[in-house]
Amino acid sequence: MNGTEKAQALRHRKGGRRITALTAYDYPTARLLDEAGIDMLLVGDSLGMVVLGFPDTTHVTFDHMLHHTAAVARAQPKGLLVADLPIGTYPDPETTLAHARRLIEAGADAVKLEGGIRQAEKVAALTAAGIPVCGHLGMLPQRVLEEGGYKKKGRTPEQIEWLQEGARALVEAGVFAIVFESVVPEVAAELTATLPVPTIGIGCGETTCDGEVAVVSDLVGSFPWFVPPFARPEADISSSIREAARAYQHRVQGP
Ligand code: KIV
Ligand code: NA
Repeated sequence: MNGTEKAQALRHRKGGRRITALTAYDYPTARLLDEAGIDMLLVGDSLGMVVLGFPDTTHVTFDHMLHHTAAVARAQPKGLLVADLPIGTYPDPETTLAHARRLIEAGADAVKLEGGIRQAEKVAALTAAGIPVCGHLGMLPQRVLEEGGYKKKGRTPEQIEWLQEGARALVEAGVFAIVFESVVPEVAAELTATLPVPTIGIGCGETTCDGEVAVVSDLVGSFPWFVPPFARPEADISSSIREAARAYQHRVQGP
């Protein structure tokens, strides 16, 4: 299947088996997750925090994304490979299309960008050019500095309307799915029930969306210094690395 076919297949999972999505930033992780059968690998700009050591995603450059997208693509995943457009790379339809094309050339099947109504025209330009797009609504990490923190969305009638209108605009522009981040569970469930495309949740309650996305470091415990409250670790990689380092010290230096 090519990228467009993979995105269409995911789109048709609406109402069917729930979608599994995880972030991946490098070849071995991508290969392991894909071999496990994960549906969608996201080269998220969370890369900036959990791999590159920046305080938030606003420091991620286009070159960072290209570099890591190409690494993940070398794993030749069967699952859908989605790459984030980082901050500042989608100011207008033309610039957005140019950047998206380069991520596709690097091996992405699809791209993701943050926001609703103000991105609709750009999303339409991408889908018209045959590039599958995933939306992202709710808490938008690229705006964390303006918003002064990571805040839950969908608490007020205005916010609910903003989410509904944003989602509708994205669907009209042709997205194959929408990620909802940190949306009140009841609101995420309502959006899931009404939207024609799959919703993929993070921090929205575990059963409210058509699928779930998690940052792989939160799943495997590879970034112990910050763990979001909704994370559900299934492994403790940081302890394994520390233990291996101590065993190595012992082997080299003796007791
Ligand atoms: O960058 C990222 O990891 C994301 C997910 C949180 C959806 O955008
Ligand atoms: Na992201």
